[in-house]
Amino acid sequence: MKTIAVISQKGGSGKTTIALHLAVASALANRNTAIIDLDPQASAAKWADRRPADLPVVLSAHASRLAHEMTRVADTGGELLFLDTAPHSDSAALEAAKASDLVLIPCRPAILDMEAITNTLDLVRTTKTPVFVVLNAVAAQGQEAQEAAEAIAALNVEVSPVRLVNRVAYARALITGQTAQEFEPEGKAARDIEDLHTFICAQLNKITSEGDQSYDQQIRQRA
Ligand SMILES: Nc1ncnc2c1ncn2[C@@H]1O[C@H](COP(=O)(O)OP(=O)(O)O)[C@@H](O)[C@H]1O
Ligand SMILES: [Mg+2]
Repeated sequence: MKTIAVISQKGGSGKTTIALHLAVASALANRNTAIIDLDPQASAAKWADRRPADLPVVLSAHASRLAHEMTRVADTGGELLFLDTAPHSDSAALEAAKASDLVLIPCRPAILDMEAITNTLDLVRTTKTPVFVVLNAVAAQGQEAQEAAEAIAALNVEVSPVRLVNRVAYARALITGQTAQEFEPEGKAARDIEDLHTFICAQLNKITSEGDQSYDQQIRQRA
């Protein structure tokens, strides 16, 4: 099982949106996929309550139970796990980053958001888990996204070449427990998510082929 944590100390950056959309992309690709919602606000878990489909499985947990819940997901055949995290909780974010194979930091292309990611980056870097910043809710046109990508890259962190544009489909879909790929399969949001999913899977494959231990073994050691 591989685990991806979506972390940002800033609320509203797109953690839940990205975790849910990538998890559905993974489930649609027939991978046994789960989400552990570590945010006490439980937005991902509430989304699952509204969701007609059974997959992905969404569990709600306190960070102190993370290792136990991860073992449970792995034991039930979980292949890909997403951790949705709370803002303003350093200890929980740290647990999530430590337990993961890859960290995604969503960031809006606005000065306050970009300033705030240095805190998140400092925290994640202490864990040595590979990390990518994903620019989220960028304008469809203009220089904004490129300028933001360059400013973030100057912090010595990798920026995902796939960015998510600001589109209503992301928020609309969640109302009915769906994601943009299900709500508007031919839409641009669906296409962006597919591209991000492909990129993330390629990164995970690279990381896995470099490691010599199976992911299940690693999780058992953590638990
Ligand atoms: N790419 C996007 N386009 C449009 N709205 C977005 C996008 N990403 C997030 N949002 C909206 O921004 C708000 C905050 O997103 P959310 O995923 O809940 O952030 P977080 O989990 O980091 O607090 C939500 O209303 C969500 O629908
Ligand atoms: Mg959230």
